[in-house]
Amino acid sequence: MERTLSIVKPDGVKKNVVGEVLGRFEKNGLRVAALKMIRMSKDEAKGFYIVHKERPFYESLTDFMSEGPIVVMVLEGDDAISKVREIMGATNPKEAQPGTIRADLASDIERNIVHGSDSPASAQYEIGYFFSSLEIVNPAG
Ligand code: RTP
Ligand code: MG
Repeated sequence: MERTLSIVKPDGVKKNVVGEVLGRFEKNGLRVAALKMIRMSKDEAKGFYIVHKERPFYESLTDFMSEGPIVVMVLEGDDAISKVREIMGATNPKEAQPGTIRADLASDIERNIVHGSDSPASAQYEIGYFFSSLEIVNPAG
């Protein structure tokens, strides 16, 4: 059993596909262990994407991630990290496999609907960035 962090990004909330994204995760056997809607400040977005601070898209990405509300969630399941990445599809929706969230719902390499942790180390950092241990439950009860 593994945990990962996912986010419905501001474009996904604006497009009203929060339930659609969640449903795709649930249909693939993942369970929600924590969930909330928040709005990040620019500085909070910079802290979240600190690994990308040297990238040319860092400013634009952190403007985008702080432009409106997001839904952050902890998902739990077997191979949750790689499973969520598979369901999301490639960063660039034009390169994403048909049937993935990004291929079906996104049109832009930056405004690509959804985030998922890319490794156990990033999952640990990202879950702790948004949730305390008391806010994460055992979804099976
Ligand atoms: P994420 O971290 O959001 O799950 O996405 P990812 O692993 O597929 O992609 P990553 O390389 O970590 O990039 C993080 C986010 O930055 C934006 N981006 N823009 N303009 C560009 O070339 C560019 N490249 C990346 C996207 O929002 C990407 O998801
Ligand atoms: Mg990433």
